[in-house]
Amino acid sequence: MPELDRLFRPEIQQMQPYVPGEQPQGGKFIKLNTNENPYPPSQRVVAALASAAASRLERYPDPLGTAFRVRAAEVLGVEPDWILCGNGSDDILTILTRAFVGSSDKLRLPYPSYILYRTLAQLQGAQYEEIRFREDFSLAEDFSKPDAQLRLAFLPNPNSPSGTVIEPQRIADMAAQLTCPLLVDEAYADFAESHCIELVKQNPRLMVSRTLSKSYALAGLRFGFLVAQPAIIEMLRKVKDSYNCDSLSLAAATAAIDDQAWLRDNRQKVNATRQRMTVRLRELGFTVADSQANFVWCTRSDRPVQPLYEALKRDQVLVRYMNYPQWGDGLRISVGTDDQIDACLDLLAGHLR
Ligand SMILES: Cc1ncc(COP(=O)(O)O)c(C=O)c1O
Repeated sequence: MPELDRLFRPEIQQMQPYVPGEQPQGGKFIKLNTNENPYPPSQRVVAALASAAASRLERYPDPLGTAFRVRAAEVLGVEPDWILCGNGSDDILTILTRAFVGSSDKLRLPYPSYILYRTLAQLQGAQYEEIRFREDFSLAEDFSKPDAQLRLAFLPNPNSPSGTVIEPQRIADMAAQLTCPLLVDEAYADFAESHCIELVKQNPRLMVSRTLSKSYALAGLRFGFLVAQPAIIEMLRKVKDSYNCDSLSLAAATAAIDDQAWLRDNRQKVNATRQRMTVRLRELGFTVADSQANFVWCTRSDRPVQPLYEALKRDQVLVRYMNYPQWGDGLRISVGTDDQIDACLDLLAGHLR
């Protein structure tokens, strides 16, 4: 082992790094690999950024993001003290793991799902327990089985990579059975038909995280938030960095959540394209899960899909190839503009001939 590695905690030495999707900085890729929104954000966001950049950058930001929380609370039907702002929802996931999961405690997550959850457990020196989705992406009862060591459960809904949804009533039942907090990660819920914000009011151990990266087209900004009961939020404030959100992202996020007309229009466009690409991918012989997110999960049993990913990449179209040991592999294709998706599907059809 190299000399300097020994300086690190054993957990850090042993863990594999989390590898985010490719983010090519040059070239002319059609980028359908990390579930970004293909459309630019609301013009109001751009104006808010310009105005925030022109004033007060010499001062620290509001540590609690009050202006954002006030507006978001109105939109979501809660009070501002039910919201915690984060530097992307990854920051919220980190805060929760640090707050609830100590070394040798256990974190539960479904499999396959967002790979970062594992990494967060490993950083804490904690164990993680993966509960496999059934083939139809329903979740076995085991997910809500009580366990003395269990300190936190993560449930992405809609899930990634499948885009599938577990109904809120079922989630309420699972949260009631679990003795630990349950975080419903709603990174993609703005594209879905249901969400779990109301459940937070009924069960203090149920929390919901959201991001502005996807449905508000602000992945480059880094802003997410948590909805939880005030007593939980108050404790979590002890764990977050003092100034975890900067003035520019706070101003932009406030303008973004204020523009609900933009969100409705964007959701309608993205969901219409998702519907169209699902139909066409099925015609091309893929098995496509019923997605309520801004991406679709495609598999096939008649041929390997990795060569299709590679061929598309040579064509300058980036989709995500995912291989989950003991589960299987597939392509996760983000919803792009209609033109981008038509180009991707035409190329795919060519590679399948
Ligand atoms: C399920 C899920 N949760 C959370 C995130 C993190 O989003 P962000 O940190 O950009 O808010 C992602 C990003 O891809 C995701 O897929």
